[in-house]
Amino acid sequence: MVKTWVARHISTVKVMLHGAALLPLCWLAWQTFSQQLGGDPVQYLTHFTGKGALNLLFITLLISPVAKWIKWGFLLQTRRLLGLWVLAYALIHVGIFWLLDLAGRIDLFVEEVIKRPYITLGLIALLLLIALGITSANRIRRKMGRNWQKLHNWVYLIVLLVPIHYYWSVKSAVFEPTIYLIIAALLLLLRRQKLMAYIPKKIRPKVA
Ligand code: HEM
Repeated sequence: MVKTWVARHISTVKVMLHGAALLPLCWLAWQTFSQQLGGDPVQYLTHFTGKGALNLLFITLLISPVAKWIKWGFLLQTRRLLGLWVLAYALIHVGIFWLLDLAGRIDLFVEEVIKRPYITLGLIALLLLIALGITSANRIRRKMGRNWQKLHNWVYLIVLLVPIHYYWSVKSAVFEPTIYLIIAALLLLLRRQKLMAYIPKKIRPKVA
């Protein structure tokens, strides 16, 4: 019953997902304008948007296994929308860091990328996300053929890079980033068969 409703109203579901992804940003804007961001507003904004991007990335990667498990194939149609929201949050996250922490200076940004390995990883993840976002359009997907899937499999690297970026960015409170790393490992474990293709045959373990 619910399944039929969702399948029939996939565009309604998409609108609801857009709303759910936009709502935290509206909340953040309201907190900003009513000056409720605490003692270090820039850090609050960076953390909020970084976590938002990572949580959405995990949700995006959960869609496939969940859709397969509950046999709701049409849910796959929501992955592109969610993926683009991951990119939007990530761009806002980096934009805040660049504009508010580094006063919009390119030289300081380059310096940070060179000096701090966690920023280097963040930049690699961002560039990959941008590549996936640009090529997510149906027209480009058709033109790219088989290469499209190959390119989009880089999302498995992104899902590892971002929690490492998070783990590396904290000084002592490693509990939460460790949980994120474990979730990333579990999401990859769910795709172990697909990922095996990337391991050279000679050293490839047998997967049940
Ligand atoms: C050039 C790219 C990036 C830069 C410059 C950057 C910068 C930063 C900075 C400055 C922090 C806070 C470190 C601190 O607390 O002192 C941070 C944390 C974080 N970033 Fe990024 N980031 C980048 C890319 C990304 C991307 C692509 C994502 C997600 C898709 C992401 C997710 C996160 C997360 C989850 C945190 C931890 C937030 C927390 O501590 O609550 N970052 N990043």
